[in-house]
Amino acid sequence: MGRRKLVVGNWKMNGLRAQLPEVEAIGALAAERPAVEVGLCLPATLIMAASQVKGGAFVGAQDCHMKDNGAHTGCLSAAMLAEAGASWTIVGHSERRQDQGETDADVAAKALAARAAGLKVILCVGESLDVRDAGGAEDVVSAQLLASLPEGAAADWLAIAYEPIWAIGTGRIPTMEAVEAMHKALRAALASRIGAGEANAMRILYGGSMNGENAAELMAIEDVDGGLVGGASLTATKFAPVIAAAG
Ligand code: PGA
Repeated sequence: MGRRKLVVGNWKMNGLRAQLPEVEAIGALAAERPAVEVGLCLPATLIMAASQVKGGAFVGAQDCHMKDNGAHTGCLSAAMLAEAGASWTIVGHSERRQDQGETDADVAAKALAARAAGLKVILCVGESLDVRDAGGAEDVVSAQLLASLPEGAAADWLAIAYEPIWAIGTGRIPTMEAVEAMHKALRAALASRIGAGEANAMRILYGGSMNGENAAELMAIEDVDGGLVGGASLTATKFAPVIAAAG
């Protein structure tokens, strides 16, 4: 189907200038593997410096505001992030949905704002442990995806990340069968909204405790087109086997 694998580190609230050598080392790893698209979504304070570091990894942000400008103390617009050197941003990460109360409508609006500023977007969805235990997680997450999906969603600027909330930072992951079923369901949901052709071209990443030990098995699943990686992306040593697993 020809979807190029996409492997993105999410550094969350980690990283000072002292970690720029890690950014450079990860950029060097990415340059060795042109078949894989590699990026780092960094704290906004590092975007400008990191985007000047040579290497094969793109630099992204972790969130943006849905408005272009205005009285929103502490927030950053997509244009500001693009000007600083970001080429991608995450939207709708579960930590923001939970900690900042972001709704599906907010997430869709942020994705549109990012696109308007020329950023590509990783849109995150995923279920809580209660939902997973109750059964029917595929239906819940598919509904969340459709409610968060921006107008004009297309594979050339948007990727989806499926991140079970209970797998993030916990070392636990779903069974391979559960990941396979979820990614298949999400692609079917996308097809229902944007058509089969566009849905087949769109990358659906897995996220949540992906690391050097499980990445190869996860990325061998047909509808898993890469990973969104937190803890295991913080150093080149930990990230290297994840990038290698992608190709
Ligand atoms: P984790 O985080 O890899 O540390 O579980 C993933 C994420 O939250 O994007």
